[in-house]
Amino acid sequence: MLARFSRLLRSRSLPFSTQSVPERLWKVGRLNHVAIAVSNLDEATKLYRDVLGAQVSDPMPQPDHGVYTVFVNFENTKIELLYPLGEKSPIEKFLQKNPSGGMHHVCLEVNDIKAAIESLQKHNVRPLNPEPKIGAHGKPVVFLHPKDCNGVLVELEEA
Ligand code: CO
Repeated sequence: MLARFSRLLRSRSLPFSTQSVPERLWKVGRLNHVAIAVSNLDEATKLYRDVLGAQVSDPMPQPDHGVYTVFVNFENTKIELLYPLGEKSPIEKFLQKNPSGGMHHVCLEVNDIKAAIESLQKHNVRPLNPEPKIGAHGKPVVFLHPKDCNGVLVELEEA
C-alpha cells in the first residue's frame, strides 16, 4: 500500500524540482549591461543618442581591456558599445567575423565574485581567467566560457 502510494507520488513528480533553492553563499543580481561590438563607434553612438534619444556617455578609452566604451543608459539596464583600441584588442577577431558588429556579451551582477567562480567551476562552467580582473567600471569582473553558457560570453561583475 505504502509502496504503491510512493510510486504514484513519483509518477506525478514534475520534470523539475519544486523544492526551494538551497541557501547559497553568493547570489546573482541584476542584468548590468549587454555589450555590443561596433565597427563605427560614432555612428553607433548617433543611433542611440540621436535616433533613439537615449542618454549616452562620452567614449572612454579602456587601455587595460583593449577597447573604447560608450555606455548607453536605460531605465533598467545599460548597453555597452565596444570598439577596438590598440592592436591586440579582444574584439578585433569578433569584428572580423561580424563586420557589421554584433552582441558580444551580457553582464550579470553577483554579490561575491570569488564565491561565484568557485561554485560555477564545481558545475563545470569555466572562467576565462582564474582570478577576477578590474573591469570597465572599476569593479572586479570575470568572463565565463561561451561554450559553457549556451554559446554566450557571460561577464560577471561584483556589485
Ligand atoms: Co562588459
